[in-house]
Parts: sequence; C-alpha cells; structure tokens
Amino acid sequence: MPSAQVIDGKAIAASIRAELKEEVVVLKARYGGRAPGLASIVVGQRKESQKYVELKHRAAAEVGIVSIDVQLPDDVTQEALEACVLELNSNPDCHGIIVQLPLPTHLVEARALAMIHPGKDVDALLPVNVGLLHCRGQEPLFTPCTAKGVLALLRRCGIVVAGKRAVVLGRSNIVGAPVAALLLRENATVTVVHSGTPEADVADYLRSADIVVAAMGRPGYVKGEWIQRGAVVVDVGTTPVADATKKAGYRLVGDVCFAEAAARASWISPVPGGVGPMTIAMLLGNTIESFRATIG
Ligand code: GUN
Repeated sequence: MPSAQVIDGKAIAASIRAELKEEVVVLKARYGGRAPGLASIVVGQRKESQKYVELKHRAAAEVGIVSIDVQLPDDVTQEALEACVLELNSNPDCHGIIVQLPLPTHLVEARALAMIHPGKDVDALLPVNVGLLHCRGQEPLFTPCTAKGVLALLRRCGIVVAGKRAVVLGRSNIVGAPVAALLLRENATVTVVHSGTPEADVADYLRSADIVVAAMGRPGYVKGEWIQRGAVVVDVGTTPVADATKKAGYRLVGDVCFAEAAARASWISPVPGGVGPMTIAMLLGNTIESFRATIG
C-alpha cells in the first residue's frame, strides 16, 4: 500500500513556468519589448538531443523567451563549433547558450563548452560556475538545472532540508555533485554514494537517510527495503527501457523501485513526471536571470 505523498513535478513545473511567463511580461514592458533569448547548438541528428532541445524551445516560447536554434552537421569541425559559440557570446539578443550534449566523438566537449561566456552558461557546466557552487561563501552565476530542480521540488513541498541526513546516489558533474553541493548549502549532512562505494555498504547508508536523491542511471537499483520509514525520495534516474506497448518503443525508468519505496517513504517523486519537467523550468529561470543581469 503506498503511503507516500507523490511529488507532482509536472504540476510544480507548470506553476513555475506560469510565474516565469508573468515575469517576462513585466520585463518586456520595462525594457522596450526586449525579451530574454535562449540559444541552443545541436550537432547532428541524434534523436534524443533533437527531441530534448525541441522541448526546451517549446517551453521557452510558452513563457515568452525567444529561441535561437542552431543546427550543425554531424561532421562539423571543432573550430566551426567554437566559432558558432563565440558568435552567440557577442549576440546581445542571446542571454543563455546550451551546447546540447553528448557531442559526436570527434569533438572535444570540454573545449566547446569552455568557449561559452560564463555569464551565458545557463546550464552551469563551466568549471568557473561549478567551482563557485562548491566554494563556501561564494555564489555561482548559474546553478545546474536538474540539481536546482530537485531543491525546488523539496522547497515547494515544504520539505525541510536543514539538519537532515541526505544521501545522494551518483556524483556526475551534471546532477549528483551539484545536488550534494546544494544540499550542503542548505545545511543538510550529505553522504555521496558512487560507483566506488562497496555495494555491500549502499543499503546501510540509505537506511539512515532522511532524504534520498537517486541519480545513478541504474533502473530499479534502489530497493524499497533500503528506504527509512518516513524518508523523502527524489528519483532523478531516467533510463530508456525498451517497451513495445509505447508509441516511442521505450519508456523512462527511474533508479528507485517506486511501489516498494512509496510504501515506506513520506514523499516520493515519480519517473516520469517528477524531476524531469523541473529541469527545463529551471533552465528558463536561469535565462531570465541572465537577461536581468545584463540589461539592468
Ligand atoms: N544532454 C542531456 N541533458 C543535458 C543538459 O541538461 N544540458 C546539455 N547541454 N546537454 C544535455
């Protein structure tokens, strides 16, 4: 019997987008019709990247953010890709730049990302923004969108983080590490479980966690019996698993065995419909922050 309250990320993200839309209306009125602009660079025809970027631009349009959609061929050179980033850096109508990852293997991602102006790094992937996030007493220019979305879900559900024991599963630059940094900033006591943690220890760490954030990308890895009664569980995993009953031929599966964990947790976020929609809402928020910072 599920006892947990389900965190409705879809509804929370929709209400955040509605707030952002109002904010853009006010900003446009104040700044002579100028609007925040979000640019994406996609290299090649990779289906997931195309789909994901389309969702970002659709959401941007919904809140009044102008999209700049740059499509480069699969065999684009490193130099041409970097030149494209530099051009967007100097475009005054562009306030945020996304280089959609992964890039084809002949390109060096870190070098392409390094070209982005730190003030337009709305994905917060640049070392300067990563470093500032982990630096006590400093503020990054932008916070990584998925991690920021996790914290926003907790806040909007009235879940207190300060003083809690949090366990983050995964230490990726894009999710695990920034989630851990944000939880620390909110005064949680944070343990990071990762691929180097002995498997036999994982359940022990989880059993004492008040807040669990799972971001390993291992479908169904977290068992319900590992969850402390009353814990808050946020599932960031979204692994595509073949499913012939779905139109797309696959479904997204989280890292947590949902039904088992829901029987013990106080709050749980589902996959899909949990963290996923929050990532794009945070990206739009970062783009608006960038607009405010440059126009004011
Ligand atoms: N690929 C998958 N997720 C992301 C993301 O959040 N940002 C970028 N740039 N690429 C991605």
